[in-house]
Amino acid sequence: MVMKAIEESLDNIIDKMVGVVEESKDEIFQISEDARTEYEKLVLELNTTKEKVLHYIEAEEILTKEVQASKKRLSIVSKYFDQYSEDEIRQVYEKTHHLQTKLLMLRQEEKALRQKRDEIERRIVSLERTINRAEGLVGKVSVVLNYLNNDFQQVNEIIKEAKEKHKFGLKIIQAQEEERRKISREIHDGPAQMLANILLRSELVEKTMRERTLDDALKEIKIVRSLIRQSLHDVRRIIYDLRPMALDDLGLVPTLNKYLSTVAEFHNILIDLTDLGSNKRLDTQYEVTLFRLIQEAVQNSIKHANATWIHVKFENTEEYLTAVITDNGKGFEMDKKREDTFGIIGMKERVDMLSGKLVINSKPGKGTKVIVRIPCPK
Ligand SMILES: Nc1ncnc2c1ncn2[C@@H]1O[C@H](COP(=O)(O)OP(=O)(O)OP(=O)(O)O)[C@@H](O)[C@H]1O
Ligand SMILES: [Mg+2]
Repeated sequence: MVMKAIEESLDNIIDKMVGVVEESKDEIFQISEDARTEYEKLVLELNTTKEKVLHYIEAEEILTKEVQASKKRLSIVSKYFDQYSEDEIRQVYEKTHHLQTKLLMLRQEEKALRQKRDEIERRIVSLERTINRAEGLVGKVSVVLNYLNNDFQQVNEIIKEAKEKHKFGLKIIQAQEEERRKISREIHDGPAQMLANILLRSELVEKTMRERTLDDALKEIKIVRSLIRQSLHDVRRIIYDLRPMALDDLGLVPTLNKYLSTVAEFHNILIDLTDLGSNKRLDTQYEVTLFRLIQEAVQNSIKHANATWIHVKFENTEEYLTAVITDNGKGFEMDKKREDTFGIIGMKERVDMLSGKLVINSKPGKGTKVIVRIPCPK
């Protein structure tokens, strides 16, 4: 429950963070776009201003020449003033004055234009800085977003995995306890009771020998012997269930053969084993893993699928150990989350430990196929 709450609130927090960061990214992007539009406008304005300055300079050059010419004329007219009428002199004077004033104005306007040009250049430089900064920020924010969307999401996965592992650990302890209870009950009900019975019977043999005929005593001994045989059978079965010693003595395939035929007989179904192996013995760890995997898959086919036929295929090449367990049972919905079942999780764990792969194909009504592939030990 606590884990689930943590997971959900973590999901919420991440979602909110992603939202805020995405909004910020959009805003920064907008700022950089606005700055860029302004920048382009200013570049245009700068160009026209520069052109205008050039025009002014040209106009000033022409006007300066005119002023010089006019001044020259004025000095001539002033020098030989007796040769010109008062009107003529005044006209030359006024023209010179007018031209000079015009030139002064032009110069002032040009100066103002230059100032404007410098100001635009300054603003362009500062806008360039803003655009660069905004673009840098968008990049950084994208990195944060990526982190939030990918790496951070993995935290949730890790928590989920840890939760499953935790549950699995508990289930192992439970399973151990259950196993012990089962074994003690089996020994109690089977061999222990049988031994008590044998003890009683052996006393009866003694009594019969003393009080009745030898034949009667022999009959009793026969009964005792059959009880001992049955106990022996029970003890062997219990040992086999605990861990088939044949696995250590004979190896995987002979043990599987024996196990599968016992199961088939007990449940009255058809189980066949195709062995494409090389008869080579494998590391104990590999043999135990494969045996338990096949055992779990077969038990699932019997317990859940109502299968009437199960096929086990085992292949052992240079590269891979492969086991395929197919049943003709009712199949199941693969995506359905199941609480508190650990058979398949345990299979995955075992396969993971040997760097292998487990694939289960199943569909309601279509049977189930479990495929295990483990790389061979080097
Ligand atoms: N061969 C199959 N056919 C139909 N359903 C299956 C088969 N194998 C597994 N399932 C379904 O998948 C579920 C999970 O299987 P899993 O082995 O993990 O758990 P379990 O067998 O229910 O319990 P456990 O193995 O822990 O005793 C089963 O409860 C069953 O519904
Ligand atoms: Mg199971």
